[in-house]
Amino acid sequence: MSKKLFIETLGCAMNVRDSEHMIAELNAQEGYELTDDAREADLILINTCSVREKPVHKLFSELGVFNKLKKEGAKIGVSGCTASHLGKEIIKRAPYVNFVLGARNVSKIGEVLHRDKAVEVEIDYDESQFAFKDFRSSPYKAYINISIGCDKQCTFCIVPKTRGDEISIPADLIVAEARKAAQNGVKEIFLLGQNVNNYGRRFSGNHEKMNFTELLRRVSAVEGVERIRFTSPHPLHMDDEFIEEFARNPKICKSMHMPLQSGSSEILKAMKRGYTKEWFLNRAAKLRELVPDVSISTDIIVAFPGESDKDFEETLDVMREVRFEQVFSFKYSPRPLTEAEGFTDTVDSEVGSERLSRLQAFQDTILDEMKTTLLGKEVEVYFEELRNDGYVAGRSDNNVMIKVKGCEEWLGKIAKVKITEVSRLVQYGEILA
Ligand code: SAH
Ligand code: F3S
Repeated sequence: MSKKLFIETLGCAMNVRDSEHMIAELNAQEGYELTDDAREADLILINTCSVREKPVHKLFSELGVFNKLKKEGAKIGVSGCTASHLGKEIIKRAPYVNFVLGARNVSKIGEVLHRDKAVEVEIDYDESQFAFKDFRSSPYKAYINISIGCDKQCTFCIVPKTRGDEISIPADLIVAEARKAAQNGVKEIFLLGQNVNNYGRRFSGNHEKMNFTELLRRVSAVEGVERIRFTSPHPLHMDDEFIEEFARNPKICKSMHMPLQSGSSEILKAMKRGYTKEWFLNRAAKLRELVPDVSISTDIIVAFPGESDKDFEETLDVMREVRFEQVFSFKYSPRPLTEAEGFTDTVDSEVGSERLSRLQAFQDTILDEMKTTLLGKEVEVYFEELRNDGYVAGRSDNNVMIKVKGCEEWLGKIAKVKITEVSRLVQYGEILA
């Protein structure tokens, strides 16, 4: 009988891909198969996130629950950014944990499994050329890492300390992965990195020099690839060449994530983001000029140390001007190992909560207005999900989630759809052809 793996993945898309890598390695080396039931698992693995404080607290209570319900002899592992950050401290606080595997070390999963109390959290470790075995959680969409780590030093962010310096993965490996995925019927490639448009600044070996724009061209030349998405680009590196390629290349989906963080140039400076409010607005305007239908999403942090009412209003200004399709908003959470942890001009927590709700309410009004303009539009939808109420769902090129009446025969297909009903979260439509 095969062994069973229960895996929980928290945080960003890079963690989703890391989990796929670990599942693939465990399956190839040890014959593990996935289960949804932690009670029958031989290995329970939590792939963690440490970007904000709350999920880190939750980890330890969750580990306690898993320890109680696990079957006799089952192992528990902790991987990801909290593993990198807390290291052996995790085993100190939860002695029943069998191994700790950092975000930069996921290729070692097969090895740590057999070393009880192993802690592998080296952030200089280079797995940029490691050829992982194959596992994809979706038959329709392939996540592909293009770099590991991050070279930026945003003062609020713990990621460079948990994922280490940025190293680009050689383009021929990326293209080979895209080719393999396309041969297996995948139409959509999702390129991943903490800072994708910084691609090519550093490789670990002697590799062909290339920037992100050129990489996009290479991937789009792969036969069978019909759609390309990527996350996350950095607003600082959105040069004209990149935006022009984004606009011109029909395979690149017209949805862009532009993590703003704050609309105040003062706060952006304190965050060490490297751009101003004006630069951000200029890039967004250029994007809209070349791609009028582009959907832009963003990340915003409120109540960063020193944020005044006026600074906060500037963030709302940018939202008013850019009109984001989606805003991931967070209240600033001080993180260890970051520069901002030592900043003393903190914002009162209640003020932060109030700003966060104001911002979200404001976004809702913008979104409601934007959604009405979708009514009657014709878009191409790539169907990826079967809903149990007789619907199939998928995304348009510019990232609008649309449900239509239909069955599994539509899965994996791209069809023209007319939008017939709109709401904040989901749209309904009819298939035209
Ligand atoms: N380079 C990655 C960033 C990863 S962190 C990317 O662009 O996707 C994802 C988001 O979490 C950040 O964009 C930021 O908005 C938020 N975040 C990071 N550190 C935070 C902190 N200390 N407090 C609150 N939000 C934070
Ligand atoms: Fe974090 Fe800034 Fe890098 S948000 S992941 S340090 S680009």
